[in-house]
Amino acid sequence: MDALIALVNRIQRACTLLGDHGADAALPTLWEALPSVAVVGGQSSGKSSVLESIVGRDFLPRGSGIVTRRPLVLQLHKTEQGLQDYAEFLHLPKKRFTDFSMVRKEIEDETDRLTGKSKQISPVPIHLSIYSPNVVNLTLIDLPGLTKVAVEGQPESIVQDIESMIHSYVDKPNCLILAITPANQDVATSDAIKVSRQVDPAGKRTFGVLTKLDLMDKGTNAREVLEGRSYRLQNPWVGIVNRSQADINRNVDMIAARKREREFFATNSDYSHLANQMGSEYLASLLSKHLESVIRAQIPGIASLINRSINELEAELSRLGRPVAVDAGAQLYTILELCRSFERVFKEHLDGGRPGGDR
Ligand code: GDP
Ligand code: NA
Ligand code: MG
Repeated sequence: MDALIALVNRIQRACTLLGDHGADAALPTLWEALPSVAVVGGQSSGKSSVLESIVGRDFLPRGSGIVTRRPLVLQLHKTEQGLQDYAEFLHLPKKRFTDFSMVRKEIEDETDRLTGKSKQISPVPIHLSIYSPNVVNLTLIDLPGLTKVAVEGQPESIVQDIESMIHSYVDKPNCLILAITPANQDVATSDAIKVSRQVDPAGKRTFGVLTKLDLMDKGTNAREVLEGRSYRLQNPWVGIVNRSQADINRNVDMIAARKREREFFATNSDYSHLANQMGSEYLASLLSKHLESVIRAQIPGIASLINRSINELEAELSRLGRPVAVDAGAQLYTILELCRSFERVFKEHLDGGRPGGDR
């Protein structure tokens, strides 16, 4: 199954690379059909921090106020044990980043290149791929936070613009929603839950994530939410303890932060009975498992789309003539090859009788 998700990732990436050369109808549809995970919530609710925890690396700009100002489409690719982690941006092909603080700097610089140094936002996504033996195969999308007021220098339309930007991702039925809700605010007023209610009223594709459990007032706890009594979703809520701003300033690393998070749940009498269903590592595996089952359920649909794509690609290629020298042709050819291997993997799944029985 890992191989299948990896292949879905590669086709998504190849479709993105193809960009404007996209062969007519099937490719955009194919991209839409592939599942992804969008991180949604109010400003400073902890979205970027949760993403970093899932990846297990420090690489995102974080902090108070509007830090994330363009969507970041993040593809995680699991590599073989023993290989070094590296990152690559779509806008900087062939440049491998092994220093993740440089990844953060490049996200900041690339954000500023489009928006200027002001607090403007842009819907044009930044595409980043991370290759590591320690990730699960996932496509995650970090988004600007929902806000209620424009701050100095921002146009009044920013509130609506951010909402539209978020909807352009979460409206797709195949988009899983990570609804980030800080525990030190009322869940009923959560921006993330508000969006989820609009597009996923039955709570089928929403994962409730409760951050900042360490910041709750003494004498209060979040059991009502975590046990599913405050706001019911079909998937269980997951509680998270990310690094605080003080931790970030002191450069507390990811390993130490995860250890502390585990200890928080194991030793807190309010949560110890839930400890094995809490924390960022649990969230990452929950998402990966869910994604697997989503892809599995979609195999027949995706298979026929792939089939259509292959036909269209072949038609497009014969129209272009010999593909090798032509840039667009070469890219189409790559996708065609990916689609064919996708078909082979699907075939094993369909013929093998037992879905997901590869590996
Ligand atoms: P975003 O705006 O939703 O992407 O939020 P960030 O991830 O940038 O986090 C905003 C601020 O909240 C940062 O200073 C984080 O250190 C802090 N923060 C996020 N999650 C937690 C948490 O679980 N506990 C604590 N104490 N601070 C957190
Ligand atoms: Na923030
Ligand atoms: Mg952010």
